[in-house]
Amino acid sequence: MALPPNVHDAEPIPAAAREAIDALMQSGDLFRYTAPQDAPVTLLEQEYAELLGSKYALAVSSCSAALFLSLKALGLPRDARVLIPAFTFAAVPSSVVHADCVPVLCEVGENYRIDMDDFEAKLDGVQAVIISHMRGHTSDMDAIMALCDARGIPVVEDAAHSLGTTWNGKNIGTIGKVGCFSFQSYKMVNAGEGGILITDDADLIARAVIMSGAYEHNWKKHKGPHGENTLDLEQAFAKWQNQLPLYNLRMSNLSAAVIRPQLPELARRVRDGLANHDYVAGKLNASPFFDVPAPLAPERRAPDSIQFNLIGLSEAQTRDFAAAAEAKGVKVQVFGLSTDNARAFWNWQFLRDVPELPQTRAMLMKACDVRLPVRLSRVELDVIAGILLAAVEETTGKAAA
Ligand SMILES: Cc1ncc(COP(=O)(O)O)c(C=O)c1O
Repeated sequence: MALPPNVHDAEPIPAAAREAIDALMQSGDLFRYTAPQDAPVTLLEQEYAELLGSKYALAVSSCSAALFLSLKALGLPRDARVLIPAFTFAAVPSSVVHADCVPVLCEVGENYRIDMDDFEAKLDGVQAVIISHMRGHTSDMDAIMALCDARGIPVVEDAAHSLGTTWNGKNIGTIGKVGCFSFQSYKMVNAGEGGILITDDADLIARAVIMSGAYEHNWKKHKGPHGENTLDLEQAFAKWQNQLPLYNLRMSNLSAAVIRPQLPELARRVRDGLANHDYVAGKLNASPFFDVPAPLAPERRAPDSIQFNLIGLSEAQTRDFAAAAEAKGVKVQVFGLSTDNARAFWNWQFLRDVPELPQTRAMLMKACDVRLPVRLSRVELDVIAGILLAAVEETTGKAAA
């Protein structure tokens, strides 16, 4: 059998980034607000807003910064309760704590999506919601928006893993009031670090821009759709001048130069990622020991990894399976089994109270995560699927013997 592929390297950055970086090296113009216009960060914001179909975008240092700024821009009071799914990365409750708010955790089902009964039950008394589409699995946005709109609760979409995913044909990140994305490596678009938030709300973007570090009149370099000034944006900036703290979470021109040439690659990456995922899912679902949950009907996914549940394996067998796969060259992360895993809610001990969420815990104890970078070939996918199938056969066969 062919050797297992390297699943850690990302795609090479398009060559066009080199020219842009060379120009920045020559000019030394790395700060987004030095140039009077058309700085790489500004152009990225315009291109990203247009690509996703939103009015405004603000590029920042990370998705965590985008989430934090979104909560701040919503003007939530200290100790406001913010509902988040209990299956997400530790950066998400951390951004809530950073914004002086209190995370409220809701249950997530076996299909990695928010349990809507628990969501509804916990909504009273909540002042904002963050929907983490964890690993790009979209929760029921129709039901979420109906419940939140009826109560006037703003929804922030954590789309860190969902760039390119659509819901009823609409881009994830444009359904709630704000959408936040990550450019950290291991994301669909890779700049090592970086993030961006998008919204149609002029007041919210004006607040976020100022707090991101557009000190004095630097906000004048932020425009509306198609790089044009809009009256509502100008009025919002004038209203918030000198009224808000500056957290300095800006993006550097260097990051924007790495990101911009990747945007035209997105459609291909999404197409390849989904085809790769569904190919491996088909092979895994043929085994009685694996279940790759199906997408929801309105959802078109953009995966660069695969998640599946182990069926009928004990905790010891689950550990044996992961060890057998790793020995053969495929790293399987079982979210709930590795020590100090940042996606297991019981490790978020920085929260005042870590609640017990039995349904989410049960899911995390058997949910497996394997990277599937979009650049993998069919032969490489066959090797990965073959190793996973061999590892589960070995584990369950040993038990039967
Ligand atoms: C679901 C989720 N949300 C938010 C973040 C934060 O992204 P960043 O590393 O850009 O701050 C991550 C990080 O990987 C994540 O996995």
